[in-house]
Amino acid sequence: MSENLIIDNSSSKEEKYATLLPQIKAVIEGEPDEIANMANVASMIHETFNFWWTGFYRVIGEQLVLGPFQGPLACTRIKFGKGVCGSAWKEEHTLIVPDVDAFPGHIACSSVSRSEIVVPVKRDGKVVAVLDIDSEKLSTFDETDKLWLEKVVELF
Ligand code: SME
Repeated sequence: MSENLIIDNSSSKEEKYATLLPQIKAVIEGEPDEIANMANVASMIHETFNFWWTGFYRVIGEQLVLGPFQGPLACTRIKFGKGVCGSAWKEEHTLIVPDVDAFPGHIACSSVSRSEIVVPVKRDGKVVAVLDIDSEKLSTFDETDKLWLEKVVELF
């Protein structure tokens, strides 16, 4: 596998995801260590889109615990049903938040973050982690991100 991430900055969001997905597949295929895979996936998404924060929280007992990420310091633990991450865990589906200030209970790890998407990672139908991405711009995420990021987490 190539160690260089291929990013075409002239391409659309859809095209970027289409280029990224097979690269992610190649990187994590055959590697059983979930933390190592989360670290590389966070890095590859982050580098491709220059998001503000890209990372994982893992379900450990009754809480989400911070996992591999790229970006500034983040809160370490999130309770079930709390914030966008804890809500996506509880509801077991992707949450797109166009304006974090309008989401009741949003946990502001960074005041710079304006919009967010959280995609649950499931194993045997159970949420085992969430992929959380924050943007410093409003309304960054839409159905295209949801579609492709759900394909990304299916690779785990
Ligand atoms: N905003 C998230 C907390 C995690 S940080 O954004 C990295 C939430 O409300 O769950």
